[in-house]
Amino acid sequence: MGMVENTIIKKSAEKGVLDINKIRKDFPVLNREVHGKKLVYLDNAATTQKPRAVIEALVDYYSNTNANVHRGLHTLAEEATSAFEETRSLTAGFIGAEEPAEIIYTRNATEAINLVAYSWGRKNIRKGDRIVLTEMEHHANLVPWIVLAKETGAELAYIPIDDNGCLDLDDLGNIITPNTKLVAFMQMSNVLGTINPAGEIIEKAHKRGAITLVDGAQSAPHMPVDVKSLDADFYAFSAHKMLGPTGVGFLYGKREILDRMEPFNTGGEMINEVRYDYADWNDLPHKFEAGTPNIADVIAFKPALEYLNNVGMDAVREHERELTEYALGKMLDLGFVKIFGPTDSAHRGGAISFIVDDIHSHDMATMLDTRGIAVRAGHHCAQPLMKRLGVSSTTRASFYIYNTREEIDEFIASLVEIRRYFSNV
Ligand SMILES: Cc1ncc(COP(=O)(O)O)c(C=O)c1O
Repeated sequence: MGMVENTIIKKSAEKGVLDINKIRKDFPVLNREVHGKKLVYLDNAATTQKPRAVIEALVDYYSNTNANVHRGLHTLAEEATSAFEETRSLTAGFIGAEEPAEIIYTRNATEAINLVAYSWGRKNIRKGDRIVLTEMEHHANLVPWIVLAKETGAELAYIPIDDNGCLDLDDLGNIITPNTKLVAFMQMSNVLGTINPAGEIIEKAHKRGAITLVDGAQSAPHMPVDVKSLDADFYAFSAHKMLGPTGVGFLYGKREILDRMEPFNTGGEMINEVRYDYADWNDLPHKFEAGTPNIADVIAFKPALEYLNNVGMDAVREHERELTEYALGKMLDLGFVKIFGPTDSAHRGGAISFIVDDIHSHDMATMLDTRGIAVRAGHHCAQPLMKRLGVSSTTRASFYIYNTREEIDEFIASLVEIRRYFSNV
């Protein structure tokens, strides 16, 4: 599996930052048709498509290596272990972690957050403590804390959103009280697209002595991230939302915090010594990785990261910012589309939630699908946010490095046709 040639960054402002035609050739699925139309994949906030290098890495691993990691003394086991650990090093570099051991493999971002809720939360959160979240959280960064608060008697408090879909930080000093133990928030909203000022929130939390967890499921794939300069204590994200395979997620944690935590799952691989009545724990990161991990998918995530590194995360962000600005402008020009979240592309990512008249989001998504356009419809795992916005669901279009202005034009033309169809019946 070769490195991707670094020729995909284009400097021409007129045509955009990236050479999209070249990028698109790397994604086999983009050639398929849906209902006789060329696929327009605008469901990237749910999961992204995979470049050929990732698909080939999976086939290559199962065809030529396939062995369990960290325990064998034969060649295949050594090769598998070293590839498995190479992904960890690359992931650490990608988000600016101090050392690879601060990266824990999980199944997804959800499991990474649950790991913190169980291992850190159950030891450190007591009755009367406060956990601060935001009104825009995904269920993944909501339900684990609701459960923990219920179990411990801790209270939950929420940073509100304003009518623009941005966090209202005016009262942050009062929301993060001296009894606040944890501030957990998303860096980029999967519904509103909002990019939250993570550094500012973390600084305020630390001043109160609280620990911070950043849900990076939507930010790590779409913008440069540096956990060290953010000073985040925990950072959770998923491989499948950033060109990688499903079944792999990551928890970054500062070593001094991870070292003091008890394991999440127990069993093989995570131990140092076991007797019939005793067990103690392996070093980081193995302490948190009980049992046989998802070796193949971890290994196949490496070419995904290499792909993103080659494009450059600044270029990824700039391409999506341009596309988002273009799409927002066109959608607002239609005059009948209600958009949720900021309409200034400088402060948001490429997830655009919207409704058209009283057309149900499921009808909208189904009609778009008949035109080959894949979007998401529903509550986007953010039921409390839907309530706050006064809707039961929205339709969401979301972009990635392979999306084009032409695809957005098709999407816009379809919105016009679908609205016409529904107003005629
Ligand atoms: C903001 C946010 N957090 C967490 C998650 C959960 O990610 P996963 O399902 O990969 O665990 C998602 C997935 O959509 C998300 O958008």
